[in-house]
Amino acid sequence: MATERTLSIIKPDAVAKNAIGEIIARFEKAGLQVVAAKMQHLSQEQAEGFYAEHKERPFFKDLVGFMTSGPVVVQVLEGDNAIAKNRELMGATNPKEAAPGTIRADFAETIDANAVHGSDSPESAQREVAYFFHADEICPR
Ligand code: PPS
Repeated sequence: MATERTLSIIKPDAVAKNAIGEIIARFEKAGLQVVAAKMQHLSQEQAEGFYAEHKERPFFKDLVGFMTSGPVVVQVLEGDNAIAKNRELMGATNPKEAAPGTIRADFAETIDANAVHGSDSPESAQREVAYFFHADEICPR
């Protein structure tokens, strides 16, 4: 199995619910390691840049508005098949369709406030990790 890195964001709704620890515990229990982490309140420019690939989609303004509505926790997760494993732990984008026991099923109610983000491919993981972290901020163990 390939060791990968992926970017995870605990979104403003989950931070507001005080669920940071419970969500990170799920990553750790699944064998993923947090190798970088920070809490920050994204600016509009940061959120627009991060989600630039979605800028033509009808929900773009709402997505940026939501992601700048409160602090987020941004992390780099490392482990075997980290990208797919994180997506599996997260559950479907729409919490109403998320499998029982997934993070979105347990912590999210709506598609626009869905608790977590996770990179969806090796290419996006590389871009997204570099968007938030300098190489010297990542601490492999
Ligand atoms: S995904 O995860 O990329 O396959 O899902 P996708 O449907 O392409 O959605 C991309 C991101 O947009 C968010 N989203 C929305 N935000 C607000 N309102 C609506 N209606 C909406 N639909 C989708 C979705 O949560 C994805 O965010 P991230 O952070 O990438 O998970």
